[in-house]
Amino acid sequence: MYTLATDATPRSTPPKNEHEILHQFLISLGKAIDAKDAGTGSHSSEVARIAEAIGWAMGITGKEIRWLSMAGLLHDIGKIGIPDSILSKPGPLNDEEWEIIKTHPGKGEAIVRPVEEFGKKKSVADIVRHHHERFDGLGYPDGLMEEEIPLGARIVAVADSISTMLQDRPYQAGRNFDEAMEEILVCAGTRYDPDVVEALMSVREDIKHILPGIDR
Ligand SMILES: [Fe+2]
Ligand SMILES: [Fe+2]
Repeated sequence: MYTLATDATPRSTPPKNEHEILHQFLISLGKAIDAKDAGTGSHSSEVARIAEAIGWAMGITGKEIRWLSMAGLLHDIGKIGIPDSILSKPGPLNDEEWEIIKTHPGKGEAIVRPVEEFGKKKSVADIVRHHHERFDGLGYPDGLMEEEIPLGARIVAVADSISTMLQDRPYQAGRNFDEAMEEILVCAGTRYDPDVVEALMSVREDIKHILPGIDR
């Protein structure tokens, strides 16, 4: 018979606090997303860790640094609503398929917004919606530019690109860390917020060390 543990029951490890349990649950959800998207086994965790490191370097603390980490884990959750035939296509996508891919930030926002904490201004839902906006306004889904884009989304955009460049894709081998950094620098001011890129460069060695299997 199953019996509930009581306070008198000795525990081998101390109980986790709720923040820690929630964070671990979001890591699980991130792994579910990664399992659906070919070649990205640790993408969501990598994005969260890189985004958090950049966030600290920019002086972000408290609940906003937690939102950043959570949004990193959940940024691609909308891919659950994208057909596998598109996500795993072994070659470049056609225009129609791209239009479908571009719906994943909006789908992701809708998935996370019911969590009251995530629906607050500039919190997780806003970051998930805007993680593919570009600093020059040429991104999607809303074509926001510069400070119109929530800061957390500008940070996740950089972290997302780094992780994506390092991963092997079905039609393209991953780049090494230095090549990825070079590409980010080249696109500072167009694709990426130059202040975010500057913060990234100040912690680039730390990031190199927190990413597993980085030397490939
Ligand atoms: Fe995405
Ligand atoms: Fe991503």
